[in-house]
Amino acid sequence: MDAKKTAVVSGLEGIVVAETRLSDVDGERGRLILAGHDVESLAGRMSFEEVAALLWDIDPATARPLVAEGRVRAFERLGRLGDALDREDGMDALRAGVAHLSDRDFGTPAAVTGAVATLAAAWARRRRGAPPLAPDPSQGHAADYLRMVTGRSPGDALAAGLDAYLVTVADHGMNASTFCARVVASTGSDLISAVVAAIGALKGPLHGGAPGPVLDMLDAIGSPEAAAAWIEGELLAGRRIMGMGHRVYRVRDPRAAVLERATARLAEAGVSSGRLSLALAVEAAAAGALRRKYPQRPLLANVEFYTAVLLDTLGLDRTELSCTFAAGRVAGWAAHVEEQRRTGRLIRPGSSYIGAAPIVGGLRPQALSP
Ligand code: COA
Repeated sequence: MDAKKTAVVSGLEGIVVAETRLSDVDGERGRLILAGHDVESLAGRMSFEEVAALLWDIDPATARPLVAEGRVRAFERLGRLGDALDREDGMDALRAGVAHLSDRDFGTPAAVTGAVATLAAAWARRRRGAPPLAPDPSQGHAADYLRMVTGRSPGDALAAGLDAYLVTVADHGMNASTFCARVVASTGSDLISAVVAAIGALKGPLHGGAPGPVLDMLDAIGSPEAAAAWIEGELLAGRRIMGMGHRVYRVRDPRAAVLERATARLAEAGVSSGRLSLALAVEAAAAGALRRKYPQRPLLANVEFYTAVLLDTLGLDRTELSCTFAAGRVAGWAAHVEEQRRTGRLIRPGSSYIGAAPIVGGLRPQALSP
């Protein structure tokens, strides 16, 4: 074994790549701190724009109009996006749409955050067979996003439900998409490029792509009594249970609890999809089956499990859930890009070469063939 080789840390698990003032994930105790506050104390108490202002270190009073301006300006660009939003998958559309924006016009955290909501809503609207709706800058971000997607003024309870969601997912330590954004920023590239890369990472089912499949799972199970057998069947077939397990948390993801409560509050206000009790039964069955299969590795509900239940209750379609996640997480991406820039340091890890050694004094025969 080559003495220079160092062991590869699979998935970079446990590797610390940055100091950050933005958020802290305590996986052992199940605690998430966002800009100095426990997530439970923010969701439902502060608006998304106010929490974004904490992350961006700007005056909270300015965040709301700046984000609204971003929504409006992105809407004005829709006509120049060509067929960018014309994709079957919302995350493909969002990635292509954001890539069309210039960093000169949308290169601030508030502008790109507003733009992501407008583009996601425009894609969702078109998929629903209706023309995109213009933003209303007098509305809060959550209320306006819901209106732009569904075509209806959401009312206070629904707007508060989405606001709690956007706050809950605004930032989350060095998750895969945030890391992507920081790597791009570390090269000296621009905010729009970093957000495009982050959207690509968030699309994957192991990161932000799980809520749709969680709803598919709830539909397939149908009733609480069917949960245990269905879950066992999936595990026997070697498939993962979506919405369960986390790289960092060894207890239930605290965001799952926040979103479960937000769904319960909506039910108290008379808004329900009827899925919460089924979801609780499926979660219990999945946690039990995973505990039996992996006694050493706690695999419990993560944020995506109750993202699916809450956003479905709010009237969003399962195809729209990952884009809505991006509409919240973009606040964190932008804050991390600014923080990374301040370090001025390129992120450039190493790798351990396991390919063939060159033949001394010549080329490999296959390299010579045309
Ligand atoms: N269902 C079934 N088995 C799971 C599982 C799940 N949800 N999550 C992890 N496992 C299993 C893995 O298959 C692995 O088993 P193996 O050793 O037999 O291969 C073992 O548990 C350890 O998992 P590992 O791949 O090391 O976990 P990770 O830290 O890399 O993965 C997730 C974390 C989130 C990617 C993973 O839990 C997962 O795929 N969850 C489902 C997708 C999801 O909900 N994503 C949203 C995350 S917020």
